[in-house]
Amino acid sequence: MKEKLEAILNEAMERIEASDAPEKLNEARVNFLGKKGKLTALKKSMKDVVPEDRPKVGQMVNEVSEKIEKKLEVVRTDLERKLREKKLEAEVIDVTLPAKKNVIGHRHPNTIALEEVERIFVGMGYEVVEGPEIELDLYNFEKLNIPANHPAKDEQDTFYINSDIVLRTQTSPVQARVMEQGKLPIRMIAPGRVFRSDEVDATHSPSFHQIEGLVIDKHITFADLKGTLEEFAKELFGEETRTKFRPHHFPFTEPSAEVDVSCFKCGGTGCRFCKGSGWIEILGCGMVHPHVLEMCGIDPDEYTGFAFGVGLERIALLKYEIDDMRLLYENDYRFLKQF
Ligand code: DAH
Repeated sequence: MKEKLEAILNEAMERIEASDAPEKLNEARVNFLGKKGKLTALKKSMKDVVPEDRPKVGQMVNEVSEKIEKKLEVVRTDLERKLREKKLEAEVIDVTLPAKKNVIGHRHPNTIALEEVERIFVGMGYEVVEGPEIELDLYNFEKLNIPANHPAKDEQDTFYINSDIVLRTQTSPVQARVMEQGKLPIRMIAPGRVFRSDEVDATHSPSFHQIEGLVIDKHITFADLKGTLEEFAKELFGEETRTKFRPHHFPFTEPSAEVDVSCFKCGGTGCRFCKGSGWIEILGCGMVHPHVLEMCGIDPDEYTGFAFGVGLERIALLKYEIDDMRLLYENDYRFLKQF
């Protein structure tokens, strides 16, 4: 019996010592102390021991059992410590490594151009205002001297919500909305999104942006309009920029003009950029039509004013020499971050 016990103890010690994972340790425990374990089996055979020897043998069995338990405990703690150390080592943080950079994107060329235009006009004392993108036909057309059946309505075909409500085709309706409020004088710009049912190509999009300008005061003349836009062009494209006013027609201004600037690429001698002409068209403008003033509650005998409308994408494309408008809408970061 004694030899048997010793053999079990030795075997148990060896197996426990060799356990290098909690599962193996558990296997060893089951193997010796479990219900069908070797020591348990031995305990069951106590009945075969002669009664006088039972207390002694019983004590020996208990001692072996305790030794195994103790060994199990020591190896288990040791194993846990080693596992913990290994884990800590694997999870160690090197605080000297450079931090990951947060990618915060890039301002869109439209935004950069808009902020530039706003900076110029705010510097001249203009206020920046906004109007609705979903607009009444009344403001988008009627109050701007474009009655039903006017051919200009055809040119600016848009998306109709119903017969009275449209997605605005221009930022000009903001003129009427501001004039109607009756607070004079007015010096404002109104940037925003506009819509037309145009097919997408290198120079067209069903949705683009304009910046409207409006000045209403006593004694405003065409000279003020010229001076203002000349100054604007110089600030935007450079001091040496020259400006040309070509007669044009807009229903809500009289007289009206389109403004060209001398090509900032070739200085006006003609290049690929200005298609050889030396000039680049940038905006439409004019003196606010007396009938428009009247419809918006302003006395045309007392007040006069000028207005202009610039395409924001056009400015961005020119300023950053982008040759396809579609690039502005794809929002590819590799493209955007160049500006
Ligand atoms: N709204 C015009 C357009 O979209 C542009 C324009 C022309 C605006 C003359 C004006 C202006 O304020 O005076 O074609």
